[in-house]
Amino acid sequence: MTYFITTPIYYVNDAPHIGHAYTTIACDILSRYNKLKGDKTFFLTGTDEHGQKVEKAALSKKKDTQNFVDEMSQNFRDLIPFLGCQIDDFIRTTEERHKIATQFLWNKLKDNDQIYLSNYEGWYSIRDEAFYLESELTKTENGLIAPSGAPVEWVKEQSYFFKLSQWEDKLLEYYEKNPDSILPRSRYNEVLSFIRGGLKDLSISRTTFKWGVQVPDTENHVMYVWIDALCNYITALNYPNTDHDSFKTFWPGIHVVGKDILRFHAVYWPAFLMAAGLEPPKQIFAHGWWTNEGQKISKSVGNIINPYEIIDTYGLDQIRFFLFREVPFGNDGDFSKDAIAQRVNADLSNNYGNLIQRISSFIIKNSDSAVSKPQNYKEIDHQLLKSFDETLVNYIKNMNSFQIDKALKNIFDYLSEVNAYVDSQAPWSLKKTDDQRMKDVLYLVTLITIKISVILYPVIPSSIDKALKIYNLSIDNLNLNNIEHFSPDLINLNIPKPLFPRIDL
Ligand code: MSP
Repeated sequence: MTYFITTPIYYVNDAPHIGHAYTTIACDILSRYNKLKGDKTFFLTGTDEHGQKVEKAALSKKKDTQNFVDEMSQNFRDLIPFLGCQIDDFIRTTEERHKIATQFLWNKLKDNDQIYLSNYEGWYSIRDEAFYLESELTKTENGLIAPSGAPVEWVKEQSYFFKLSQWEDKLLEYYEKNPDSILPRSRYNEVLSFIRGGLKDLSISRTTFKWGVQVPDTENHVMYVWIDALCNYITALNYPNTDHDSFKTFWPGIHVVGKDILRFHAVYWPAFLMAAGLEPPKQIFAHGWWTNEGQKISKSVGNIINPYEIIDTYGLDQIRFFLFREVPFGNDGDFSKDAIAQRVNADLSNNYGNLIQRISSFIIKNSDSAVSKPQNYKEIDHQLLKSFDETLVNYIKNMNSFQIDKALKNIFDYLSEVNAYVDSQAPWSLKKTDDQRMKDVLYLVTLITIKISVILYPVIPSSIDKALKIYNLSIDNLNLNNIEHFSPDLINLNIPKPLFPRIDL
């Protein structure tokens, strides 16, 4: 199986913040999970560098636009390893390969009679880079605003249009046949009712500024930034060379996006693709929005969360874990210091880290730093192993359906069971009464800990690398296909270092 997963490409008008980090980490988790399943994966991210919003940002900094985007794009690129993410490609819309792909796509749409020249007159929001109908806007003291709260302005210019209205039925038909192609289900319903409400042709070129991909065979039209941006997903697969291995192997892909930009991905993008004779995306997952201690995150409020700061304060895996354990993926979430501390302490420090710490230290002290496979298991041991197998089945089911929070909750419920098993079997008491049984219990708990570590790997990879080193193991040899039956004859242990120090409240 192959798996192509993408983040949105981020606007370079400003520095990356927690929202961008969140989407990128989500895709990293899903990409690592699918690799662990044995899939051939491709994880793409990058930057969206054209359009008025970015041009205005460069102007306000009094910088040359190209220099400005070079610098800003680098900030997004640098953030990736800091987030513990492993990508396969980073795309920038100002690259030559992308210009070739977008202009080819444009010509393809034109050849297929999907584009015509007319005049656009209506509302536009530079902040959202989106056109709005008057009926979508709200009157405020400061004038009309878009549903996102962004200001709008009246635009009147010559423009090329894409015949989006012709794709209403085709889109509905496609989505009715593929109900899991937009997730969560509430978002699917939202998109379908939007399409059923009727689609208007879409303005796809602008003439009042220059910072964009030039429309082929025109003097003064640049492409609307969204047609340019969406095309990144196939540029990276070598479009227009659809016979190329990477296109054949990886398209159609899976787009993870914030709920704010679902319409672009679930309506415009599949319509462009179908109109160009290409397959629509396999799946689109729309996630929720983060607030900071209950408040909307915004520059004007001054409560932007800097990913570097929080990771320096709490630790990388602590943050990765918190973001995906605390809030159901798809829902909005609130970032709060207390919630991080509570979550990390309860799950990572107590339930997981302490288990490793106390059992491995005990083995080093009382069992010559090694445990061997028992001759036979007791009924209670079989129960614990069976419970792991069930946890694994649930984990796979949840991860396959983007329910990362549920997958994690299952693991930690199971870890509570493992801790209860340790308490009830009390190896420290067995030490005085039944040395063999003590060793058997220690082996079993160690084995289970290793299995759990493997399934935690996608979310907290660097900590799991450290944890597995305690057992002289590496993730390179463990995966979702061999973990169920994994049971080596002997496990040698190294002295553990605490993985998750408690966070003071
Ligand atoms: N450039 C477009 C996307 C083009 S994709 C072909 C864009 N860029 S953006 O920089 O505004 O980033 C948007 C994405 O960042 C959102 O869709 C979401 O994934 C993420 N987030 C930005 N702020 C966020 C929060 N406060 N909370 C969660 N995610 C947020 O739109």
